Amino acid sequence: VKVGKVTPRDAPAWERMRGALWPGEHVREVAAFFAGDRHNPAEVLIANGDDGTPLGFAEVSVRNYAEGCQPGRVAYLEGLYVEPDARRTGVAAALVAAAEAWGREQGCTEFASDTGPDNLVSQAVHLALGFEEADRTVCYRKDLK
Ligand SMILES: CC(C)(COP(=O)(O)OP(=O)(O)OC[C@H]1O[C@@H](n2cnc3c(N)ncnc32)[C@H](O)[C@@H]1OP(=O)(O)O)[C@@H](O)C(=O)NCCC(=O)NCCS
Repeated sequence: VKVGKVTPRDAPAWERMRGALWPGEHVREVAAFFAGDRHNPAEVLIANGDDGTPLGFAEVSVRNYAEGCQPGRVAYLEGLYVEPDARRTGVAAALVAAAEAWGREQGCTEFASDTGPDNLVSQAVHLALGFEEADRTVCYRKDLK
């Protein structure tokens, strides 16, 4: 598996895999990223097989704050996805290693992430890849009328 920063040539694969992770329309976000909006995600890493088949992606940003981390610049794993047929072959491990290298390049000394309480696979993967659980949060919302 080869991991590299996303290029316009990867755009259709990134958009399709993004839709598999977060159902919905991603055309605008993908276009905005390539137009220079580098807030969130600040970078996208794409994993390709030796034959060029897209296998997965990771989105990363730098946040000012993350649970359990020192306030400041914290590298953040915003999204991580591997195609079903490619799972359990180390693709996520390679993406996360590249994401960590990117975070170091940004001057970050901590790397944070989150996942849902029911996503036990993702929790197992985070622990296997060296993350430690920092906190559990209940999220709320209300309309402002
Ligand atoms: C989570 C996900 C990205 C993992 O990708 P992956 O490429 O299969 O992960 P890896 O092969 O790199 O696995 C790394 C380690 O994590 C652990 N792991 C991976 N999948 C696991 C599973 N299904 N159950 C338990 N542990 C698992 C293992 O320790 C594994 O190492 P090993 O295979 O040598 O035992 C993938 O399952 C996925 O895309 N899931 C759907 C989307 C999602 O939930 N994303 C995360 C949301 S933040």
